Amino acid sequence: MVVKMDAQIANVKFDGLFINASGVHCQLNNDLDELQANTFVAGTVTKSATLASRPGNPRPRYVDLAHGSINSMGLPNQGFDYYLNYALTRPSKPVILSVAGLSVAENLKMLTQIQESSFDGLTELNLSCPNVIGKPQLAYDFQATEEILTAVFSFFKKPLGVKLPPYFDLVHFDQMAAILNKFPLSHVNSINSIGNGLWVDPVTESVVIKPKNGFGGVGGAYILPTALANVRAFRMRLNPAIKLIGTGGVTTGADVFAHLLCGADIIAVGTQLQVEGPLVFERLTNELAAIMDEKNYQDIAELRGKLKTL
Ligand code: SIN
Repeated sequence: MVVKMDAQIANVKFDGLFINASGVHCQLNNDLDELQANTFVAGTVTKSATLASRPGNPRPRYVDLAHGSINSMGLPNQGFDYYLNYALTRPSKPVILSVAGLSVAENLKMLTQIQESSFDGLTELNLSCPNVIGKPQLAYDFQATEEILTAVFSFFKKPLGVKLPPYFDLVHFDQMAAILNKFPLSHVNSINSIGNGLWVDPVTESVVIKPKNGFGGVGGAYILPTALANVRAFRMRLNPAIKLIGTGGVTTGADVFAHLLCGADIIAVGTQLQVEGPLVFERLTNELAAIMDEKNYQDIAELRGKLKTL
């Protein structure tokens, strides 16, 4: 049986379900091109850009663990113009242009450039990078989040979403959703890595990454329950027009199926893309199709957001 997997965020149509998580396989044009050419990839997110290019944090800054990863990349990127230029000239599939300015002013400057350009895809404001030394994750400051969105939407008229960190308290879901619902957001991308985890190697009696004395964002299977909780909690609270990109913990088709039941519109893959390379998207597609086939689902729309409670 052929199953229908597609989605729409604002005016952007995705012929498929899968994108890369920002940060993985998307720093350079060649990486983005490779994803764009992959039949099982529906769109690509560019590495979160700062205005100027950055080398990122000292190495080692990414380590694979038994059930995921820890990273403190520190936003290594080629600079905003590089990604805007990519988005304007090269892709055939949808591009999500991710920006993560080092200050509010820097974010506003990049968004102004996007507004004034001919870019007609999705823009994503990353409010959740845990790895820039001295810069807290903005979306944990609810007042600052509302202030930056107020400033942005005073001039930005194109589809814009936000990338959020995980939340862990139901009151915080209520509070953040109430803020987000005040704005015409195209989407929420939930979640970024779980910030400031720590991994200890008992052999060397040491941390495993160098920046921040070993503290870094945790990704991969470790974070699946937290990602599902965030997608579900926001789907239950956000205006229906605000779509959800489910990011976090996907290693199998069953994980994708769970994200969709929780309400994800499309699915981003990070750690598992890093581990397995772009072939992961074909495997996940086939595994999801097999689950849907077995359950007699023909279209993602039949199950999206339909999680049952006991
Ligand atoms: C990084 O570059 O440190 C990761 C980006 C992010 O977590 O937003």
